[in-house]
Amino acid sequence: MNNSKKLYIETFGCQMNVNDSETMVNLLKDLDYEQTDSAAGADLILLNTCCIRAKAEQKVYSQLGRLKSLKNGKKKVLLGVGGCIAQQEGERLLKRVPYLDLVFGTHALHLLPEIVRAAERGERLTRNDFLDPESRLDLFPRKDMAGGVARFVTVIQGCDNYCSYCIVPYVRGREISRRSGEILQEIRELSEAGVKEVTLLGQNVNSYGIKSPEEPTFAELLRRVAEIEGIERIRFTTSHPKDMSPALIDCFAELPKLCSHIHLPAQSGSDRVLKAMNRGYTRREYLDRIAALKKARPDITITGDMIVGFPGETDEDYQETLSLMEEVGYADLFSFIFSARPETAAAKLADTLTRKERQERLDRLQDRQHVVTRERNQALQNSIQDVLVEGPSRRGDQLFGRTSGNRITNIVANPSLVGKIVTVRIVEAFQNSLLGELV
Ligand code: SAH
Ligand code: SF4
Ligand code: F3S
Repeated sequence: MNNSKKLYIETFGCQMNVNDSETMVNLLKDLDYEQTDSAAGADLILLNTCCIRAKAEQKVYSQLGRLKSLKNGKKKVLLGVGGCIAQQEGERLLKRVPYLDLVFGTHALHLLPEIVRAAERGERLTRNDFLDPESRLDLFPRKDMAGGVARFVTVIQGCDNYCSYCIVPYVRGREISRRSGEILQEIRELSEAGVKEVTLLGQNVNSYGIKSPEEPTFAELLRRVAEIEGIERIRFTTSHPKDMSPALIDCFAELPKLCSHIHLPAQSGSDRVLKAMNRGYTRREYLDRIAALKKARPDITITGDMIVGFPGETDEDYQETLSLMEEVGYADLFSFIFSARPETAAAKLADTLTRKERQERLDRLQDRQHVVTRERNQALQNSIQDVLVEGPSRRGDQLFGRTSGNRITNIVANPSLVGKIVTVRIVEAFQNSLLGELV
């Protein structure tokens, strides 16, 4: 289609946004928009935004600043903001950034075509109201089934946990489970289109179905997904330790299609801090769940998230975080300095650390994790792994895929292997990836 319009989307933040951006591309096909990978030359530029930490938010505003010059050119370009900042700021964003044409929040994803059509007519619209649970089908608009080997499937939106530091409940709304029939149908269609791996997605997938008695539990949902022919691998993210039920842990022992990886953020190793964070579990309970997971699936890879410098975090609390890391042995850990977010309970707590102290805590933690990650990767050297080949590697001359434990693995192999699970020997281990050889 030569006279199709060009759409450029830049995605910030988490996997939910990555998935939503995919949906945006699909929804805008009906309006003749075709995705392009450069902002210059685009007819419509959308930023799908994140505000989880102050820095994430600043990044978006700087990008908006840079994009301003494109608005001043000869060609008419529409500029829009979606995602979490849009949900939070709504109308205020149109005022703050006068050259914006449209604002659509996380709960307005399905309305995007309508909002873009209005923008094409010169109307500046904002949609950032939250949908009620009865409209939940609208929250999961249809995506493009074609293409890809490994795809994400949203199963639950929003979050009711209100961890005291976290803005997600305010920008994604209340927890709403998607109907299981619709989830399973989508996965069947993905499988028919050639997809081999699905990752069930949500801020807190373990809560799936809890508020909807007519729906299965998350553990039951996993079992039903495992029955779908053609799907060879299943993953899910993110899990909350407090909802990691024994039935869910059993799935790791009983479902061979379930990959040997769990992302289970602890956030802190100190009971005092966990309580102040409103996380709903103790250090002991977290470690017990890790032990049960390792028992159910001895080769399981564990990754997590950690926050340092939470208001009131003492050196002792921090030491407990470091010792928890040692006990768990994370293959990878995403770690952050606490960032006070508007509306959250922790934003009202007094800061006890200097900026320098917080940075030092993060640096020390990250230095240690760097070593552990390398050691964990090196331990895989010479091991035999199953890798689902996903496509050409970044360098182009190899293929890349992931082990069941979610380690990125590059392989020298024939492109016809894309979409296949191959057995490889790990011949080299790097900081962020492995090199495998077909056996
Ligand atoms: N739903 C997921 C995580 C969502 S946000 C979960 O419940 O685990 C991803 C990570 O960002 C969090 O796990 C946390 O480590 C970090 N994070 C969230 N809010 C933060 C804040 N205010 N300051 C610093 N890090 C934060
Ligand atoms: Fe945020 Fe906590 Fe919900 Fe995760 S579980 S999204 S950290 S409130
Ligand atoms: Fe960011 Fe929104 Fe995800 S705030 S982390 S993009 S849910």
